[in-house]
Amino acid sequence: MFKHILFIGCGNMGSALLNQFLSNNAFLAEQIRVVKPSSNNLVNGISYHQNFQQLPSDYKADLVFICVKPQNSELVLSEFSQLKIYDKNTIFISILAGKKTSFFQKIFSKKTKIIRIMPNILIQENQGIIPYFTSKTISKIEDEYFQILFSNFALYFAIDDEKLFHALTAIFASGPAYIFLIAEILVNITTNQKIKKDLAISLVKKLIYGSALSINNSNDFQTLRSKVTSSKGTTASALDYLNKNNSLQKLLQNAISRAIKTSKQLT
Ligand SMILES: NC(=O)c1ccc[n+]([C@@H]2O[C@H](COP(=O)([O-])OP(=O)(O)OC[C@H]3O[C@@H](n4cnc5c(N)ncnc54)[C@H](OP(=O)(O)O)[C@@H]3O)[C@@H](O)[C@H]2O)c1
Repeated sequence: MFKHILFIGCGNMGSALLNQFLSNNAFLAEQIRVVKPSSNNLVNGISYHQNFQQLPSDYKADLVFICVKPQNSELVLSEFSQLKIYDKNTIFISILAGKKTSFFQKIFSKKTKIIRIMPNILIQENQGIIPYFTSKTISKIEDEYFQILFSNFALYFAIDDEKLFHALTAIFASGPAYIFLIAEILVNITTNQKIKKDLAISLVKKLIYGSALSINNSNDFQTLRSKVTSSKGTTASALDYLNKNNSLQKLLQNAISRAIKTSKQLT
């Protein structure tokens, strides 16, 4: 369906997507070009260009992944739009936090075909989460094409209100970082109890991986928890503390509310 695929920016998340497309044989490396200034994070077999001027003179992209930071996106995309290396049929996919489809339509055109997605880094493990929203100019066939493409490595689901991206970004795109932070904290607490760091890391990995498997096999998280919590036992002592005045929930809620606020500031 697409012959010429362009990545504008390709850092942590862009290269995670690109690697998935290659390993799923969705696109060939020869079909993909990347424009980004530095030589960090290069993927074998892909053509890299430091700026748009370095693209071949007759180049027209029919699928463009926008993977720069939201903060410098207006400048980069305004430059791109003046070079006309796309046409009315080009589909744009944005992974940018905070930036609405109308932001891109303002830069390109009201009729631009745009799909806004919000992947999380777990796409690298084929366990990603990707909410998406499409402009009205995306056809049913195009929508179905991307459903198949992204479902190879993520739970890809449509949302009908773009405002939901703020919460979905703060909870699920940032989410892996919260879990990784808990892992770090548990390693620190374990080593503070005079257990060697290597062992502490192995134990925490096993704990989180095993818990993830349990969660995957159940929809009732409270029952899972109750199976670990005998009345007045050790787990109960810790959980009573975490749940006192809903303190853990409030802490997480406040942290996520801050992330939502930051997402809103990026629009
Ligand atoms: N990381 C996540 O988990 C995550 C999750 C969901 C959404 N996102 C979104 O993904 C986007 C990128 O985040 P990231 O974490 O991947 O950041 P990143 O690793 O810093 O990637 C940013 C990319 O932009 C490139 N870039 C900078 N200036 C450019 C220019 N003038 N022209 C073209 N490319 C330029 C950088 O090039 P160099 O590589 O050459 O420096 C880099 O490849 C952000 O908008 C973020 O909201 C990220």
